[in-house]
Amino acid sequence: MKWRTTVWTLMIVAVLAAGCSDKMMMEKKSLYDRLGGKPAITAVVDDFVGNVAGDARINQRFANANIPRLKTMLVEQICQASGGPCTYTGASMKAAHAGMKITDVEFNALVEDLIKSLDKFKVGAQEKNDLLGALGGMKG
Ligand code: HEM
Repeated sequence: MKWRTTVWTLMIVAVLAAGCSDKMMMEKKSLYDRLGGKPAITAVVDDFVGNVAGDARINQRFANANIPRLKTMLVEQICQASGGPCTYTGASMKAAHAGMKITDVEFNALVEDLIKSLDKFKVGAQEKNDLLGALGGMKG
C-alpha cells in the first residue's frame, strides 16, 4: 500500500513540476517569440497593410506612400518593440507623421485593421494585448 502512495505522490509532483516549468518558460519567452518570430510578424503586417488599403476611412492617407518600405519598417518596428533581433531603421514616429494631424478616429480605424489581421492569424489574447499595448504607447 505504501509504495502506491509513493508512486502517486511522485506522479503528482511530476505533473505539478511540468506545469510550473511550462508557465515559467512562457513568462520568459519574449513577445517576439510568442508571436511566432519574423515570419509571423511579416504575414500579419502584409495582411494588415492590405486591410488599410481597403479601409475607406484611412486609405487616402496612404495614397502617396511607399508601401513596400512601409511594410519593411512596420516589420522592423514590431520585431524590435516585441524584443526580437531587429533594429528599427525608419523615421521616428513624430517625424514620420509630422503635420498629418491624425485624428483619434483614424488612429482607432488603423488599430481595428491591425486587430482584424491578428484575429485572422489567431494571435492569442495575451500576445494581442501586449502588442497593442506596445504600439498604443507610441500614439503620442
Ligand atoms: C500605432 C500606430 C502607428 C504606427 C506604429 C505607425 C508606424 C509607421 C511607420 C513605421 C512608418 C514608416 C516610417 C518610415 O518610412 O521611416 C509610418 C509611416 C506612415 N504612417 Fe504610420 N503608424 C501608425 C499610425 C498611423 C495612422 C493612424 C496613420 C493615418 C491614418 C498613419 C499614416 C502613415 C503614413 C501616411 C506614413 C508615410 C508613408 C510613406 O510616406 O511612405 N500612421 N507609420
